[in-house]
Amino acid sequence: MEVLKTEGTERKAKLSIKNIVKEFDKKMVLNGISFDLMEGEFLSVLGPSGCGKTTLLRILIGLEKADSGEIIKGGKDISSLSSFDRGMGIVFQNYALFPNMTVLQNVEYALTLKKDIKEEAKKTVAEKKAAGEKKVPSVRKLVKERARALAMHAIESVGLEDQINKRPSQLSGGQQQRVAIARTLATNPDIILLDEPISALDLTNREIMKAELKTLQKKFNVTMLFITHDQEEAFFLSDRIMVMHEGNIEQLDTPAGIYSNPASDYVKEFVVAQLDKKYEDLLGYTGRAK
Ligand SMILES: Nc1ncnc2c1ncn2[C@@H]1O[C@H](COP(=O)(O)OP(=O)(O)O)[C@@H](O)[C@H]1O
Ligand SMILES: [Mg+2]
Repeated sequence: MEVLKTEGTERKAKLSIKNIVKEFDKKMVLNGISFDLMEGEFLSVLGPSGCGKTTLLRILIGLEKADSGEIIKGGKDISSLSSFDRGMGIVFQNYALFPNMTVLQNVEYALTLKKDIKEEAKKTVAEKKAAGEKKVPSVRKLVKERARALAMHAIESVGLEDQINKRPSQLSGGQQQRVAIARTLATNPDIILLDEPISALDLTNREIMKAELKTLQKKFNVTMLFITHDQEEAFFLSDRIMVMHEGNIEQLDTPAGIYSNPASDYVKEFVVAQLDKKYEDLLGYTGRAK
């Protein structure tokens, strides 16, 4: 198992992806992808449209099946587990909220289906009965209360506590994406997968959400795998960046490592030159020594 050394502390792999291969209609989409997602890290997958980013994410969470390869989490291959049992959450670009439910209901919904919350409630009821308490609440009521408390905590953490009774259509795009993030955080996953979650937002909201994502990661102490086609986004957010090109990993390194030492012409052109260009447009010059 790969161990990443950062500031003297050793970090373990939270997820080990080994040789994932996927073809669609005889077209190679993922050409043997292997990497470790380290505990607590923010790893971006950076690549242009069509390079296989979403397919990789869908395979990791179990919405798509790989042709071959392994996904190791906690020492076990989780490839045959359902999405629900993988301990991961996903945030989609298009939010994927239930339009007929309020903010609170959207966030609560998945929680009321969680096995551990139900088990906990059953245990509490059994204990209360055994202790001879007269007014013992039902399991259903306890699940509801617990789900509400967790949902409210997540909603507060994304700053939407004043909007809980609104429906998605009454919210801005940025607010809708906050609901989607709260919904994922509330289920307490140890890994969150984010598929271009902020690229549909306007520039101002994109900047705000970019900063918030980092804060939320620290607050909920969660490992994040973030997909983007935007070089600046990847460089701002990530501990490490995995550059993808046509189903292959071109380079996996820290932002500074990639910028100072691009591993291929592709990385030079798609990542480094693009970043230089953005800063040149912004500043009128580039600070990079030619
Ligand atoms: N369900 C599918 N059936 C057939 N081809 C697909 C399917 N999903 C994705 N693809 C193809 O796989 C390639 C990678 O797609 P995708 O993973 O969505 O890329 P990205 O997210 O990087 O834009 C594309 O050529 C896309 O057309
Ligand atoms: Mg995609």
